[in-house]
Amino acid sequence: MKQIFQALKISEKVHWVGAVDWKLRDFHGYATNRGTSYNAYLVLGEKIALLDTVKAPFREEMFQRISSLIEPGEIDYIISNHSEMDHSGCLPEAVEIIRPEKILASKMGKDALENHFRGAFQVTAVNDGEKLNLGAVTLKFIETRMLHWPDSMFTFFEEEGILFSQDAFGMHLASSERFDDEFDEALLRQEAAKYYANILLPFSPLVKKLLESLNQMNLSPKMIAPDHGPIWRKNPNKILEHYSLWAETAVSRKAVVVFDTMWGSTAKMATAVAEGLKRGGLNPLLMPLGASHRSEVAAELLEAGALLVGSPTINGQMFPTVADLLTYLKGLKRPNLVGGAFGSHGWANKAVKQIEESLTEMKVEIAGEGVTAKYVPDEEALQKCFELGLKTAEKVLAGIK
Ligand code: FEO
Repeated sequence: MKQIFQALKISEKVHWVGAVDWKLRDFHGYATNRGTSYNAYLVLGEKIALLDTVKAPFREEMFQRISSLIEPGEIDYIISNHSEMDHSGCLPEAVEIIRPEKILASKMGKDALENHFRGAFQVTAVNDGEKLNLGAVTLKFIETRMLHWPDSMFTFFEEEGILFSQDAFGMHLASSERFDDEFDEALLRQEAAKYYANILLPFSPLVKKLLESLNQMNLSPKMIAPDHGPIWRKNPNKILEHYSLWAETAVSRKAVVVFDTMWGSTAKMATAVAEGLKRGGLNPLLMPLGASHRSEVAAELLEAGALLVGSPTINGQMFPTVADLLTYLKGLKRPNLVGGAFGSHGWANKAVKQIEESLTEMKVEIAGEGVTAKYVPDEEALQKCFELGLKTAEKVLAGIK
């Protein structure tokens, strides 16, 4: 049993000792259709550091990987780049087994770990820019507050040019492969975009600042090693370029039409809206909520220009699936969208108004009056849906030109 899980050498002095979660399908509300990995890294200088740990149930896998290389007790420092439980969950047990000289985290990381583990171990706070010398290995700590938690920080291994970036530049993708060059590029872009849209999007202004400061520091990382998914070694600039683009939250001709339906009326209206969008010069993407997870909608919106939302009224409210989606999207704060609402009702015409209020709260520019239809849409209602699509297209295109 001891030798099943092995450490993987990723550079002269760094080994991956993380865990792969093949079964995970829900990460606090994010659909992880391809599972995930929790990456932890051993840095071997004259002294030894463990960078981040893994989710608690994967403790054994991590320790087997560590033990394939060294005795866990040889580790001198545990560095917590991010205190969310998928990276810190097994810290109390790890501390007990390793008995490190120090556990290091950012100032906010110290606070977060203390509030998670309530005195189970002492944490030493490091300052932004502070360095730790392991003997022939210099680790520089870079505070990345709110990317995506207050505690978040990067650690840069100066001599080898490896940036340990915790969640940033990562993705949820379980695999036996560990490096970007072992995957299809389009798949990596898709999963990294989904990760950005669902985790980092609300902090896009900070992402921009971070990219600028990495530039000013002249780090030019040779490798970027995040806490989830593949390590970027072939072309680390690729993911930096993607982040630079996504942080701009620029609009495109893509229009997301998301809806739920009871007896097909709102679905019919969605189709008419989509025809209007198409006729107006946009590329509509219809996403029925029965078959589209909220995190997939968020991912599609990352590079879109419009969001149109449809819902029937049920018991005086919009559909619960639609309310769920709007609550989620409200938190992600995708700016620069044009949109509108539509939906059918029986005797209480409520949902469309409620959706419009939510869209306004999300700062979506409403392209035209919401369209409602009693029970089943007639030709006039469908025409209005078509026109809502046309008006939306006009506004999106005006913003692009
Ligand atoms: Fe992978 Fe924010 O935790």
